[in-house]
Amino acid sequence: MLDVTTIRNDFPILQREVNGKPLVYLDNAATSQKPKAVIDCIVDYYSRYNANIHRGVHTLSQEATDAYEQARETIREHFNAEKAHEIIFTAGTTQGINLVANGFSKLLKEGDEILVSAMEHHSNIVPWQMLCERTGATLRVIPMNEEGELILDEYEALLSEKTKLVFVNHVSNALGTINPIKEIIEKAHALEAAVLIDGAQACSHIKPDLHALDVDFYVTSAHKMCGPTGVGILYMKEEWGKKLPPYQGGGEMIAEVTFEKTTYADLPHKFEAGTPNIAGGIAFGAAITYLNNIGFEAIEEYETELLTYATEQLQQIEGLKIYGTGKAKTSVISFNIEGIHPYDIGTIVDKLGIAVRTGHHCAQPIMDFYKIPGTVRASFAFYNTKAEVDALVSAVQRAKNMLQ
Ligand code: ALA
Repeated sequence: MLDVTTIRNDFPILQREVNGKPLVYLDNAATSQKPKAVIDCIVDYYSRYNANIHRGVHTLSQEATDAYEQARETIREHFNAEKAHEIIFTAGTTQGINLVANGFSKLLKEGDEILVSAMEHHSNIVPWQMLCERTGATLRVIPMNEEGELILDEYEALLSEKTKLVFVNHVSNALGTINPIKEIIEKAHALEAAVLIDGAQACSHIKPDLHALDVDFYVTSAHKMCGPTGVGILYMKEEWGKKLPPYQGGGEMIAEVTFEKTTYADLPHKFEAGTPNIAGGIAFGAAITYLNNIGFEAIEEYETELLTYATEQLQQIEGLKIYGTGKAKTSVISFNIEGIHPYDIGTIVDKLGIAVRTGHHCAQPIMDFYKIPGTVRASFAFYNTKAEVDALVSAVQRAKNMLQ
């Protein structure tokens, strides 16, 4: 079992007050807080061995290169990718998706189809719309039901030999639904379509086994996993890494440059032009080590307990409706209270020290589906407590009393 009191001491920010009240941070789906191990790792890098990587013969450069490549290896091992060069460092999930979308510009043609799910974040919709504009391919949508689950029969009906790519999030950021990605990948592969899974909302809760999933592309961000912002990874099967063209040109991604012709570096450098977020990459490795020391089984078990408790308690509030009631969920609760705008609830609970997100959560199609402007979203991490759930419930009740 997980020792929450000790864990909370690892997070300096959890000791602060907001508006004169102890901070209750329930916006973990937007970004997670950072443990001292990660903060110290960044300070250590800039204090002791800051240097550019893969470039210098000098000691600092070699130390920085070793630490960065060790982080890549830690990440490979965590995600169970076969080869370290299948892990491409990016600036985050959005960049990883755009890198793949750019790569398919010359591989698709009119008549080809791309499937996305109805519960995607805008970052897993807009790059594919732009790809369709460039290529003449058509974007089709896998629908969802009232509970916020994908309708798999309809997915199967949409799949055909025209389908070239399928894009689904592992977990919905707005609803918390865990999608059955193994089944989705298998069905797409049966028709030779490639699959990209957006893992941004999954990886703080679940440890994906990329080898077992046999996925083509998997993207995620460090900052949802107790790591820093501005860094993430794109896992790309080696065969795709060889097939897709580079995303950006620049230093580091070349083998040889002349004015007549440039040849590209091997994986992963082909997709890593320019000086990367070195401290961020190293700290991403430290964040993964920190999470694994706690253990994903313990994290999942504890967060499920928090989710169940929070769901039961919030449902006691009259007029409160939860969006996303699927069977498989991470610890995210999106809700509204009849007749009250989500923004007003968010503003009042903030005065009581509670951080939640309000709005469309960059998933407007989901809001359109439910015909609502947005929701209040409380998203829990392993460092949250039942006492914090109680604080949320009482603050929401108070907001309701004030606003109705
Ligand atoms: N995608 C992040 C969220 O869901 C920012 O809040």
